[in-house]
Amino acid sequence: MKAKNMCAVIAALAAVFALTALTGCQKKKAEGGVTQGMNKKIVMGYSQIGAESEWRTACTNSVKQAAADWNIELKFSDAQQKQENQLQAIRSFIQQKVDIIAFTPVVSTGWEAILRECKDAKIPTICVDRTIDGSDGKADPNDANDPDNLFTAFIGSDFKLEGQRAATWLVNYMNQIGRGDKNPVNIVELQGTVGAAAATDRKIGFEEVLAGYPNYKIIKSQTGNFTRSEGKQVMEAFLKSDGAIIDALYAHNDDMAIGAIQAIEEYGRKPGTDIIVVSVDAVKGAFEAMMAGKLNATIECNPLLGPQVMDTAVKILSGQPVQKWVVSEESQFDQTNAAAAYPSRQY
Ligand code: AHR
Repeated sequence: MKAKNMCAVIAALAAVFALTALTGCQKKKAEGGVTQGMNKKIVMGYSQIGAESEWRTACTNSVKQAAADWNIELKFSDAQQKQENQLQAIRSFIQQKVDIIAFTPVVSTGWEAILRECKDAKIPTICVDRTIDGSDGKADPNDANDPDNLFTAFIGSDFKLEGQRAATWLVNYMNQIGRGDKNPVNIVELQGTVGAAAATDRKIGFEEVLAGYPNYKIIKSQTGNFTRSEGKQVMEAFLKSDGAIIDALYAHNDDMAIGAIQAIEEYGRKPGTDIIVVSVDAVKGAFEAMMAGKLNATIECNPLLGPQVMDTAVKILSGQPVQKWVVSEESQFDQTNAAAAYPSRQY
């Protein structure tokens, strides 16, 4: 066979092989929707908290896409940031006798009764992204009141670790630019939704690290509800009272940081230089702000949880063991590596 013909045959075989591998993979996912011992399609009720941030939109898209890939019927409900809407949605999932319920608790308290209702109805539950109060990812089998015994699995990030990473990054950077010894280093903090695990734990982790640096002071701390508009509004108020003395801003998510950056510019100081800005999420908007020199660093929080949610649901329903807490693996980015990472970011 001539070399040219040989190349054509190899190319054709490679294409057939790639197609077979792809359809094989799709088929595997699709079969996931029907588990051993169940001859019907899995039905999942999913209570999402809303659409407050770029991160949340990416999370919702990931869940919807994964449900389609796994051939799982998704009953999706948007709670518009209200716990009462989530409780109502979950109760309606129980009435509809769904096979499994996944939800993101908007705040961490007030779930015990509904989770007991799910248990009584023998419907397993997965906490996605945020967990409930008192959960440490380890269930004590002898303690019926252990919050970790109220749900089946939690898939999400270690928010405390994210807060610790943000503080460590800030302290190192302030030292690097020769401002670490300033006394005091004045920090303002934009918190996420009050009572949300993501806000509570990011605050605790940040403060834990700062406790080792007594010259670092959080002079103002208020919620911006994880939204860009409230992040801007609250930062405007911080600037009005303390604009000239703020050294750094810690925002519990990128959207609030982006809103605050606008407020800092309007006030007449330079975000990223005069006021050092560190936040959490690593959404595309944060990369753009880092490349423009306005955001200094972002700690990654992975919203692409859909595949893990569907995979875990299939395992639970087919009686396979699952981890109580599937912790997301995450990275961190600053102005030194933002441009290189940007093209491959998926959200
Ligand atoms: O619970 C995760 C947080 O919720 C994200 O950091 C934030 O952007 C979102 O709204």
